[in-house]
Amino acid sequence: MQHLDKQHQYFSFAYQTGSDIWSHIPYRFKAEEMFPKLESDSLILDIGAGRGLWAMNLLRHNYRVLGIDYVESIVNNVNNKINEEGYGGKARFIVGNALSIPFTDGGFDAATDIGTFQHIKKQDWKTYVKEIHRVLKSNRYYLNVSLSRRTHSFLGFKPSQSHTGDFEKFGVHYYFCTEQEIDETFNTHFNIIEQQYKSFESKTDPMDDLVLVFTLMQKK
Ligand SMILES: C[S@@+](CC[C@H](N)C(=O)[O-])C[C@H]1O[C@@H](n2cnc3c(N)ncnc32)[C@H](O)[C@@H]1O
Repeated sequence: MQHLDKQHQYFSFAYQTGSDIWSHIPYRFKAEEMFPKLESDSLILDIGAGRGLWAMNLLRHNYRVLGIDYVESIVNNVNNKINEEGYGGKARFIVGNALSIPFTDGGFDAATDIGTFQHIKKQDWKTYVKEIHRVLKSNRYYLNVSLSRRTHSFLGFKPSQSHTGDFEKFGVHYYFCTEQEIDETFNTHFNIIEQQYKSFESKTDPMDDLVLVFTLMQKK
């Protein structure tokens, strides 16, 4: 519990001060390339919406978005921003935990998680998978973008040399997944349609090389 509180505090602080290590990573292009083309006004759930950068892309593609994040200040900021940008009628963000998604069953055409699953503890992965499966309509899509075990060096971690992929810094849990782990974790409830990797240079440390794994899945 204390661990989760520290992580929660980190996100709250990082997203208020702009010091988070995620927002500047240009994951958007690969994610957009892999995201399926859906009908206008399709309803997308964005899990761990953060600053709402990815949600904003979805809105530009004419989708409707409901986002959750477990930090209230992050949710308030992103709602203000979305209203300022004129998307208030098409998007709303609420406080909610990915492990107990505050929406009814079968309501979404797709769900996206850009950088949140990697912060969820392994013991909670099953609950997480079931929750996403529950809120999606039949045969609909889920895009996951996560830290990859192919990363050689990031934040002082050496994931490619590690057997577990499990790291912690300042009370925040970071998990670097292998493709096999993603398959084994999700294949009870999803079929994997496509998986790709992309590496990104770090703006803060030239020795770092970050690899992200992009996985598009379909509800079984
Ligand atoms: C690395 S950030 C990604 C933000 C956003 N998806 C983006 O790409 O800019 C992770 C976000 O997930 C949120 N988060 C972490 N664990 C969560 C959980 N269990 N439920 C809901 N949100 C969570 C954090 O507050 C943070 O805003």
